[in-house]
Amino acid sequence: MVDKIRLPIYESLASSKKRMNGSFHALPIQNVGNIKNVILEEGFLSAFEKIKHLELSITGPFFDSLSDPSRVIDESSNIISDIYGSDLSLFVTCGSTIANNIVIEALCKSDDKVICQKGVHQSIHFTLKSSNIDVNFVEDILCNNESSIYRGNAEKILDELKNSEELNNPYKTLIINSQSYDGVCFDLSRFLDQVCQIATRLENIIIDEAWGAWSAFDPYMKEKSGIYNSKRLSQKYDKNFIVVHSIHKSLFSFRQASLINVYGSDHCLDKMISSHYRNHTTSPSYPILASTELAVVHAKNYGHQYTERTLFLIDKLKNFVVKNLNHFKVEELEVNSEFFVNDPTKIWITCSSPLLNGEKIREYLFNNQGVYISRYNEKSFLLNFHCGVTDELVDYLSLGLECLEKKIKANTNKMNIREGDVSSSFFILYPPGTPVLTPGQTVCKFDLDKINSSLINNISLLVVEGN
Ligand SMILES: Cc1ncc(COP(=O)(O)O)c(C=O)c1O
Repeated sequence: MVDKIRLPIYESLASSKKRMNGSFHALPIQNVGNIKNVILEEGFLSAFEKIKHLELSITGPFFDSLSDPSRVIDESSNIISDIYGSDLSLFVTCGSTIANNIVIEALCKSDDKVICQKGVHQSIHFTLKSSNIDVNFVEDILCNNESSIYRGNAEKILDELKNSEELNNPYKTLIINSQSYDGVCFDLSRFLDQVCQIATRLENIIIDEAWGAWSAFDPYMKEKSGIYNSKRLSQKYDKNFIVVHSIHKSLFSFRQASLINVYGSDHCLDKMISSHYRNHTTSPSYPILASTELAVVHAKNYGHQYTERTLFLIDKLKNFVVKNLNHFKVEELEVNSEFFVNDPTKIWITCSSPLLNGEKIREYLFNNQGVYISRYNEKSFLLNFHCGVTDELVDYLSLGLECLEKKIKANTNKMNIREGDVSSSFFILYPPGTPVLTPGQTVCKFDLDKINSSLINNISLLVVEGN
């Protein structure tokens, strides 16, 4: 008998693909082809379907070289830089981790004065540390206790910049994360105006906008985005702005597609090009390159249609929750600062029933509806309505929440007991069929927790009258 070959990664991914109806996390390209009501020009869809086959071993002069582009890669980065209005756009095919690495290595030296929002990605912390840079990290502020959502402390950053200018010891570089995964975005039109006016000697502003590649194409968010404001302010204030985008997180590209958009002096562009050369892999992925180009051109042409669709789907979900669910509610985030806005594509849903927590809801939705959610906490979970979220995915989610609501109702009725009550019945969890409570037993917290935590996991609770 031939042994079955074990391919654990392949098998796990293939079986997940079969079970998954979609993701409220990232990677819209998983759902390319399933999006209705966005009218695509002929050719886009077939191009999306073909790019994964472009893993070729070919370089200049037949194709081109990423490290010294002179033909099609050069032409494509010029097209992209025209779309973003940048002075330079650099492809990165090894994620925004490396993009951040490239940017910081290019611009920050060990004796530079750097101010950085503390809530930035680990790649920024690691690169600053390994470059031995003495950084003033400004702690984020909690803006929602229940869901542990933080935002940058814009007010403190502005104070620090002002003081350092007044003390004649100005900062050279500012680093921020402009759009958090949790759904809080800097309003960069307000914040950067203030930064530029206050910090006249600040030279570089690095904006990690990894989650916000979509916002440059969104009619509502565009004017708050890194792209729009870097273009608007760079020449006016003679500063270098760098915006890092993870393309795959919000547009239709393969994972690890990242772009560095630079607005600044020729000297800054040269430093960025040489750091890109030093830090990028020498084997760039061609499917990722092709998918970046396609995703950006596609977003430029269809961004506004996706915005309308997203707002429609969010409205549909919100109406469903309000009309049909008593134990779930859409949470409204308070950012409490003129420098921040809520991300209109991110929705937090909170569950008020003690029978459920974020982790159980997540498990239930994946196992029963093929709906993937990444971020959750004790009472709530986050939905990221990226452009790959389909009508059907919202329906699967709604159905899953409705089923959970029914389970809560059924079990709350059964669970008409409190800590300290004397049970008049057997409470038996099946499987395994062992009573948690017997008649005459005083109910303690341990019993209640045990019953609560089992109820939702498809374990039935049998309540048998005792005598
Ligand atoms: C703000 C931010 N920057 C950078 C990154 C790194 O991106 P990648 O995982 O593509 O390397 C992430 C990843 O989640 C991120 O959230």
